[in-house]
Amino acid sequence: MSASENSTAAVLELVATDMTEVDRVIARRLDSGVPLVAEVARYIISAGGKRLRPVLLLLTCGALGYTGSQRHNLAAVVEFIHTATLLHDDVVDESTLRRGRPTANENFGNPASVLVGDFLYSRAFQMMVDAGSMRVMQTLADATNVIAEGEVLQLMNMHDASLDEEGYLRVIRSKTAKLFEASARLGAILAGSPEETEAACAEYGQALGTAFQVIDDVLDYDGNSAEMGKNLGDDLREGKATLPLILAMQRGTPLQGLTVREAIETGSIDKLHDIAAIVRDTGALMATRDAAAAEAQRAIDAAMRLPENTYRSAMVALASQLLNRRT
Ligand code: IPE
Ligand code: IPE
Ligand code: MG
Ligand code: MG
Repeated sequence: MSASENSTAAVLELVATDMTEVDRVIARRLDSGVPLVAEVARYIISAGGKRLRPVLLLLTCGALGYTGSQRHNLAAVVEFIHTATLLHDDVVDESTLRRGRPTANENFGNPASVLVGDFLYSRAFQMMVDAGSMRVMQTLADATNVIAEGEVLQLMNMHDASLDEEGYLRVIRSKTAKLFEASARLGAILAGSPEETEAACAEYGQALGTAFQVIDDVLDYDGNSAEMGKNLGDDLREGKATLPLILAMQRGTPLQGLTVREAIETGSIDKLHDIAAIVRDTGALMATRDAAAAEAQRAIDAAMRLPENTYRSAMVALASQLLNRRT
């Protein structure tokens, strides 16, 4: 086991008991009188996933000293919201593999995936009411709204090879980082922390989520499908101008630039192999990893504004290990 795997294990160990409770809440709240709802929801949830957003919420609760039972409820809420977005996202992206299994749309069809996604969204809203906090509701209502905007914005950017780094960042901050931000912010809200502590948590989550998505976009060109549990090349097939491609077009020769541009515009994955090579040879892959590293550092700096304890150390460790992730 490498040093980084070892410390990822230590982070997870810190919240292992809590996560067992979160899994219990998840199993209980998946109940529905309509058999297909529970079947589809259990299908995707039992495949696992990293459960990163609940972990993030639990770590911030730990760092700020909140030990009440709402942490398990809200950790399940953020995982339900995440799962709902995945059910919808895989339909939109026409993805066929998720968490090492055929996607729900592949297995049950698009209608069931969309509708069960709606079920999970609305179940999450029922559950968050239990927290009895307007601030909690506001945070999650804002987050889900921004995520939806991010996905639509990305749809509008499809096949647009002129998208720049700023346009790319706007999408990923919305579609991915917002839920990380909300998860960390909720820990501070539950703990009744002062405004500056809540802001530090929110910045930590936002920066971590941004780094996470940037690495995800790297792995589409430099990852392993078996490890990721997803198909590679999905981004290109959708004509997504992700950061590795944006930087490759800036750095490449005119011919390399043209190859990348054409692939984005047509969404053809015929040249996936060549494009992965261009992304690597132009240094775009490394530059993208550097951009993720800068975001991870911003997360670490934000975490350092929290009280010093083992949970804060785990938050720092999580940010520094994110760059090595392969799954
Ligand atoms: C997948 O999120 C969607 C992205 C934001 C890239 P995760 O990589 O956290 O998915 P699971 O839950 O571990 O499967
Ligand atoms: C993830 O986006 C979905 C959301 C964050 C809503 P992507 O489409 O980039 O992620 P994967 O590759 O399907 O997990
Ligand atoms: Mg997708
Ligand atoms: Mg998508």
